[in-house]
Amino acid sequence: MSLENPVFCALDTTDLGRAETLARSLTGSVGGVKIGMEFFNAHGPAGYRAVAATDLPIFLDLKLHDIPNTVAGGIRAVLPLRPAIVNVHTAGGGAMMRAAADAAKEAGESRPLVIGVTMLTSLDASDLRDTGVSDSPSDHVRRLAGLAASSGLDGVVCSAHEIEVLRRDLDKDFKLIVPGIRPAGSDVGDQKRIMTPVEALTLGADLLVIGRPITSANDPRAAAEEIGRSLAA
Ligand code: C5P
Repeated sequence: MSLENPVFCALDTTDLGRAETLARSLTGSVGGVKIGMEFFNAHGPAGYRAVAATDLPIFLDLKLHDIPNTVAGGIRAVLPLRPAIVNVHTAGGGAMMRAAADAAKEAGESRPLVIGVTMLTSLDASDLRDTGVSDSPSDHVRRLAGLAASSGLDGVVCSAHEIEVLRRDLDKDFKLIVPGIRPAGSDVGDQKRIMTPVEALTLGADLLVIGRPITSANDPRAAAEEIGRSLAA
């Protein structure tokens, strides 16, 4: 897939009508939209197709994590929807990631990118210790991203503050997808470690996931266009 416009808008809603309206109004001003498990669990493939009717590329953010055979089946089951991006938890291990990547290849030319979730940003060092991981969060993310790359994934989701080190560690074709992005002057909300779109792209992000700065704006399309202009400047 081409990432000409690197902004994917997170449609974090279970309201089908709102998701459709947002997707329609954002067509042409973002590179794609992200649909998560709340929306997909509520509305399923029919809801997905309603959003996809806009022709915007879709990042189907289901964060799969199970035994390899089950994750491969989960990926295969969504291939008819033709998502641009799907994802799995890197903590599922190398065999699981390879199974996910192989399953996606069954879609041939239209295969989705398979992206790994490294460490959830809701976790900190003490949460890692509670699960038996003694590495620092940064070392843990580097290890998981390296495993994702050697297991055939196309990239990982990472925080803006990990872009630099992962860009150094990993091949330039390996995609870094970055949430926690806030245009200068916008509301931070509950995000803690934020960066502007320009800063994140300059450091080497490939794709930016931006939700509320677009979806909560009075005019979401204008907000997305403003972000686009900041990137073109
Ligand atoms: O509204 P906001 O721009 O904060 O939305 C960011 C999106 O990225 C949300 O869908 C959120 O769940 C997701 N995300 C995140 N941090 C991660 C992984 C995903 O904010 N580490």
